[in-house]
Amino acid sequence: MAAKPPVVTAIYPGSFDPITNGHLDLIERGAKLFDRLIVAILQNEEKNSPLFSVEERMEMLREVVGAYPNVEIDYFHGLLVDYAAARKATVLLRGIRAISDYEKELQMALMNRRLRPEIETLFLMPAEAYSFVSSRLVKEVIGLGGNIAGLVPPSVEIRLRKRFNTAARVDR
Ligand code: PNS
Repeated sequence: MAAKPPVVTAIYPGSFDPITNGHLDLIERGAKLFDRLIVAILQNEEKNSPLFSVEERMEMLREVVGAYPNVEIDYFHGLLVDYAAARKATVLLRGIRAISDYEKELQMALMNRRLRPEIETLFLMPAEAYSFVSSRLVKEVIGLGGNIAGLVPPSVEIRLRKRFNTAARVDR
């Protein structure tokens, strides 16, 4: 009898504070490539004062990944590679939007490789329409009353508007 092919599990780690359409684009691509994709939120003891709690971020992610049965939402603390090993993942998935992302990503990938050489980091590029989108900028723009339609999933936009107490912009 032929041996069962191994199941490839990938972790897509990040802060996801909140998830953007750029993240979602990467999740869609990752879901096609791997048998199992675990989207894992870093729980960093509120050090960087996130806008949303880990529970809220998990809820927002769950609301938008329902169409992908092989995608799971989780959170982790401590070293990413230790979490990946505990989840039997062999791939870390990260997105690279522009050259400016490269240096930080290279450092992290090489550090993670040094810590656990058996785990590979794979990079994917999101659609170019999202190459300028980041959670930080989205929060800044909506906080200053700007239009973020199309940059985050509609359910996330609603939560952001509630958090910043702003109405939807209809000017564009
Ligand atoms: O969304 P972000 O902020 O770009 O995600 C960064 C993240 C969560 C991938 C990174 O900070 C991380 O992996 N932190 C866990 C701690 C760790 O393993 N550090 C050492 C290896 S670089």
